[in-house]
Amino acid sequence: MISRPVFHDKTISASEITPEAVYRGRRAFLKTAAVVAAAAVVGACGGQQTASTPTRAATVQSDGSTDELGDALTGYEDVTNYNNYYEFSFSKQEVAGLAQGFKTTPWTVEVGGLVQNPKTYGIEDLLKQFPQEERIYRLRCVEAWSMVIPWQGFELGALIKEAQPMSSARYVRFTTLYDPEQMPGQRSSSFPWPYTEGLRLDEAQHRLAILASGLYGKPSLPQNGAPLRLVVPWKYGFKSIKSIVKIELTEEQPATLWSALAPNEYGFYANVNPQVDHPRWSQSSERRIGDGKRRPTLMFNGYAEEVSGLYAGMDLKTNY
Ligand code: MTE
Repeated sequence: MISRPVFHDKTISASEITPEAVYRGRRAFLKTAAVVAAAAVVGACGGQQTASTPTRAATVQSDGSTDELGDALTGYEDVTNYNNYYEFSFSKQEVAGLAQGFKTTPWTVEVGGLVQNPKTYGIEDLLKQFPQEERIYRLRCVEAWSMVIPWQGFELGALIKEAQPMSSARYVRFTTLYDPEQMPGQRSSSFPWPYTEGLRLDEAQHRLAILASGLYGKPSLPQNGAPLRLVVPWKYGFKSIKSIVKIELTEEQPATLWSALAPNEYGFYANVNPQVDHPRWSQSSERRIGDGKRRPTLMFNGYAEEVSGLYAGMDLKTNY
């Protein structure tokens, strides 16, 4: 992103592959919120689902082969071979190869800061405790490309609830693993590693914000942020931090990697907004990976109905 016009990357060809075709028969998220036990997610494409009671009216629905707007899912090959993960490479097409063999077990996620119930979870226990469900979301990168991805994840709000925020907590800070031996990009001192991100506490508690451990019914591959990454679909993709090891509640707005590097280009909020251009390019439209077509960018990436209330009264041009 910064100082490298990576948004000009060539479009990779759409690969219409079997997993996607198989996948198209699957049911959508949030219809009756099919909940899959974490253990069953592993390779359990459509298997062993238990219906759970939907807790609230869902406006984001889909039929399982498209998102709720009718946009087709991006092919598995594209989702797993066109990646931003600067810990491995600045080149999207190189990440998958370099991330192969990245060790995701053992893995712990520390939840702490301003909470009554701090806890360090082993990843297996975490995924057992918080049942995974499917969420088909658009991912809109700040570089003006986008995908539609069927994630498996659970609501970040559930984990925060378990941690019992103190009344002074106002923000959540996320940190990626720091391991330069495994992550060659971290040997470069031009970035303030490790990658960190942040959300306001009420954003983090919004039901659309999830922690994802899988996609297309399989455990995530390293290039997509295994074993656990954030997905905040109404914000630019850089907020959706990968391979998380720490989640802390704070009183002050946390510094984030991108806003520390280039505050005039990457704000803390980073809500998808076609009316607020990046200083170096327009955000009014985007290129969909796979079909390569340009389409208008939607306010809050098409999730305005769900999330605009979070920003009532805020000037979204200054709080970009
Ligand atoms: N998380 C970490 N730790 N490092 C990164 O470089 N890139 C971000 C985000 N999360 C990034 C990250 C950006 S810019 C985008 S667009 C998404 O991951 C891309 O996610 P994907 O490769 O799974 O599509």
